[in-house]
Amino acid sequence: MGRKLAVIMVAVVAAVVFAASIAVADDAPGQIVIDKVVNKKSGVAFDHKKHSDSIDCLKCHHKAESKDTVKNCFDCHGKDPAANDPTSMKKDNPFHLQCKGCHKEKDKGPTKCGDCHKK
Ligand code: HEC
Ligand code: HEC
Ligand code: HEC
Ligand code: HEC
Repeated sequence: MGRKLAVIMVAVVAAVVFAASIAVADDAPGQIVIDKVVNKKSGVAFDHKKHSDSIDCLKCHHKAESKDTVKNCFDCHGKDPAANDPTSMKKDNPFHLQCKGCHKEKDKGPTKCGDCHKK
C-alpha cells in the first residue's frame, strides 16, 4: 500500500470513529418520562439534560465503560422479577436507590412519592 493511501485510510477511519461517537452522544435524551412499569405506578418526569449537565454520566450509567457505550437501564433492570437484587425492580427499586438516594444526600430534588409519581 502506498504511503499516501495509508495516511488517507487512517484519516477516514478516525473520521468514522469520531462521527460514531458524536452520534451516540446526540442520542442522550432531553426531557423524558420514565414509564416502563406504569401499570404499577404513574410514570416519572425526568429532565435528563439538566441532570447530565451537572452530574457525571457514569454515576448513573454505572455499568457503562464510557459515556459513549451507555445502555438503557431497562436493558438490565426489570427483566427478571425473581432476581434477588436491584435488577428485579421489586427488591431495592434501582430508581429509588439512585434517584431518591442522591436527592436525599444533596437535600435537593424530590423525595416524596407524589413529587415523582404525579397523577
Ligand atoms: C425521585 C423520584 C421517585 C420517588 C421520590 C419515588 N419514586 Fe417510585 N419510581 C421512580 C421511578 C423513576 C420508577 C420507575 C418508573 C417506571 O419505569 O415506570 C419508580 C417505580 C415505582 C414503582 C414500580 C416498581 C415495580 O416494579 O413495582 C412503585 C410501586 C413505586 N415507584 C412506588 C413509590 C412509592 C410508594 C414512593 C414513595 C414512598 C416512591 N415510589 C417514590 C421514582 C421515584
Ligand atoms: C441522574 C442520572 C443520569 C445521568 C447523570 C445521565 N443519565 Fe443518561 N439516562 C438516565 C436514565 C434514568 C435513562 C433511561 C431513561 C428511560 O428511557 O427510561 C438514561 C438514558 C440515556 C440514554 C438512552 C439510552 C437508551 O438506549 O435508551 C443515553 C444515550 C444516555 N442516557 C446518555 C447519557 C450521557 C452521555 C450522560 C452524560 C452526559 C448521561 N446519560 C447522564 C440517567 C442519567
Ligand atoms: C448492563 C446492565 C445494567 C445497566 C445498563 C444498568 N444496570 Fe443497574 N445494576 C445492574 C446489575 C447487574 C446490578 C446488581 C448489582 C451489581 O452487579 O452491581 C445493578 C445494580 C444497580 C443499583 C444498586 C446499587 C449499585 O450500584 O450496585 C442501582 C441503584 C442501579 N443498578 C441503577 C441503575 C440505573 C438507574 C441505570 C440506568 C441509568 C442502570 N442501573 C443501568 C446492571 C445494570
Ligand atoms: C447524583 C444526584 C442525582 C441523581 C442520581 C438524580 N437526581 Fe434528580 N435532582 C438532583 C438535584 C441536585 C436536583 C435539584 C436541581 C435544582 O434544584 O436545580 C434534582 C432535581 C430533580 C427533579 C425536580 C425537577 C428538576 O428537574 O429540577 C426531579 C423530578 C428529579 N430530580 C428526578 C430524578 C429522577 C427520576 C432521577 C433518577 C432517574 C434522578 N432525579 C436522579 C440530583 C440527582
